[in-house]
Amino acid sequence: MARISLWLVAGAMLCSSPAGSLEEDGLWIHRGDNLRVFNLLRQLQRTPPHLCLDDRNDFKFPWNGTTITQMQKTERTCFHHLMLLQILSLFTTHHSLAAWDHTLLSQLLSSLHHSLEHLEQREGENRACPNVGILVRKYFQRIHHYLRGKNYSFCAWEVLRVEMTLHVGIM
Ligand SMILES: *[C@@H]1O[C@H](CO)[C@@H](O)[C@H](O)[C@H]1NC(C)=O
Ligand SMILES: *[C@@H]1O[C@H](CO)[C@@H](O)[C@H](O)[C@H]1NC(C)=O
Repeated sequence: MARISLWLVAGAMLCSSPAGSLEEDGLWIHRGDNLRVFNLLRQLQRTPPHLCLDDRNDFKFPWNGTTITQMQKTERTCFHHLMLLQILSLFTTHHSLAAWDHTLLSQLLSSLHHSLEHLEQREGENRACPNVGILVRKYFQRIHHYLRGKNYSFCAWEVLRVEMTLHVGIM
């Protein structure tokens, strides 16, 4: 299945990607943080994915592993920051609380907070990536629209959990 090979790509990139031009020290923190978020997103799974095949959807994520690696360092950090903020806000909604195991969910949220803090400590406040920012916002508008349309069902959340896990795997 296509999903399985995507998983392998995401896992391989987390473990070995040269991660473009990120600095060495920052790179290890970045990888460690991403790996924690990645693993928590995987553990969060509650509904067997094969029950949710009909709910799959193409959210038209504008990037892939290659285009992310090709971003300039500042743009990439900015992108990473925006993605984490959006993922955090997605999983902070009360609908999310109804869908997931509370212990794992709170670990995920705190892990996202830590990642954001590390990024902010490393990069300070001068992040600006208006073009990327618009695309990220539009992408998450599609996500929220889909969730509403699916009435926040377990399967809709499961589809998004997989989608977010894949992104964290290549970020
Ligand atoms: C990534 O996206 C770019 C631009 O859309 C495309 O040209 C390229 O083939 C894609 N690469 C992969 C591995 O999908
Ligand atoms: C949406 O979910 C709520 C709570 O589970 C339920 O009461 C309601 O009937 C659902 N609405 C639709 C349109 O499925």
